[in-house]
Formats: sequence, C-alpha cells, structure tokens
Amino acid sequence: MTEASSAPPTIGVFDSGFGGLTVLAALIPKLPRARFAFIGDTARLPYGSKSRRTIARYAVESAQFLVREQGAEFLVIACNTASALALDAIQDAVSVPVLGVIEPGATAARAASKSGDVLVIATDATVQSHAYKAACAAQNLRALEKACPLLVPLVEEGWTNHHVTQEIIRIYLDELTNDAAADGLKPDSLVLGCTHYPLLRPLIEQAVPAGMRVIDSAESTAEAAARLFNGRAKSHGPIDENGSTEIHCFATDSVEKFEILGSRFLSRPVGNVQLVDLGG
Ligand code: DGL
Repeated sequence: MTEASSAPPTIGVFDSGFGGLTVLAALIPKLPRARFAFIGDTARLPYGSKSRRTIARYAVESAQFLVREQGAEFLVIACNTASALALDAIQDAVSVPVLGVIEPGATAARAASKSGDVLVIATDATVQSHAYKAACAAQNLRALEKACPLLVPLVEEGWTNHHVTQEIIRIYLDELTNDAAADGLKPDSLVLGCTHYPLLRPLIEQAVPAGMRVIDSAESTAEAAARLFNGRAKSHGPIDENGSTEIHCFATDSVEKFEILGSRFLSRPVGNVQLVDLGG
C-alpha cells in the first residue's frame, strides 16, 4: 500500500517590495513542488531609509500575515534591510522558523573570497546596522560596507540598463574601492546586500575591478531554505511528487505595478496579485 501524500507546507517569503522575488526565483528550482506565499510591502517601501523601530513594526506585520492568514510554516525574509534590523523581532512575533538573507550572504562571501576581505553594498539602514560586518566577521572575513541609496529608486523606475545608473554605480564603487585601499583591505568579492541589486548585476559587473567576484545572496539563501524546509517536510509527511509549484503573491499597493515589475524580478509572470491592507 502506498502512503498517502500530503500537500507541502507553505513557505512564506517577505520583502519590502518586489526585490525579494529574486530570492523566490532561486527558491523555486530548489523546491519545485512547494507552495509559496510572497508578500511585498510595496506601500511602505523603501524600508532602507527608515528606523529600526519602524522597519521591525512593518516586517512583523507582514510576517504575521504570512503565518496567520496564509498558513506559512516557514518564513524566508527576502529583504536585506528587514533581515538586518528586524530578524529578532520577527522571530519573537511568530512561532515558525525564520531565515534571513544576511547569514547566507556572508556564507557565500566566505566561499568566494580568497583574500578574506569583502565589500558590501546595501541600503542606509542595513549599512548602519553593520549586520553584514558582524556576519562576515563570524566567518573570519573583513567587510567594508557602503550605502548606495540611489540604486533602489533607479531599479523601481526600471532604469536597470541606463547610462545614468551605470555612472552612479561607477561613482559608488570607485568610492568604496578607494576607501578599502585606504583601510589596507584587499577585497576580491562584492556582496549585493540589497534584493534590488541583482537586477543591476550586469552594470555592477562592468564597474567592479577586474577579477572581483559579485555575490548575490539569493542562491545561498535558497540553499539554506531548502535544507531547513526539507528537514521540516519530513516531519510533515511526504510531499506529492506530482505536484507543481504554487505561487501566491500579495502586495500592499498597486497590484498592476507589482504584476509588471514583479515579473521582471521573478523572470516569469507573477500571476494574479492580491491587494492586502496591513495598516499604516
Ligand atoms: N528590500 C530592501 C533590501 O533588500 C530594499 C528596498 C527597501 O529599501 O525597502 O534591503
């Protein structure tokens, strides 16, 4: 007699906007038969210029939506800013396992770096928290962080291949590599510490010094999530081997904009996006 199969647990994925869809895109091939509920808190984006208190309040509300209303049994915080400033608050607020993107990003940097020195670009709030510096130090890496606040609005505007964006990236990276040299660092890797930046990867790769590796935490986050999820799935019951990926997307502002921009981040149509009101 064959064992009855059961639906896989829902994985909740959260970002302040669409950027986290790059993490969802990396999760799908690793967990092709999972059910994903993704919320982008687009009404309150950007988080990267806000205080820890506000970021934590917003992030907790999204996490609670995913757990209470979508039945998520596992959360991936696909937002660097929320991972850097609100991971503890989210873990305290929900009773399911929560994975952020900072540690997987540092793990990927450790695997890539030979010199042990890495550069990190991120939002203002992420840089001020020094979450990457701490996560890298825990892996014996020296990290120099730089806030690049103009990049998120440029991506939101769709200027991912614009000469203005290219010039801004060049200025930021020149400043960062000069600061690194002044500090006596010999960085060989650059961590994209913001979920919007993978969309700028081609421009960033053109702007980094020759030989520098560009690291996107999406892939290593997906690997860590798959390990955790598969561990839990065993206690949950067998997953339907014939099942297919289910994706449900929610946004707190214009679903039309989410459907257009979101498809770019996910590299496939995001389907019907539902509007959610999480309050002010
Ligand atoms: N999702 C944010 C991050 O990864 C970027 C956008 C924002 O500032 O809210 O840091």
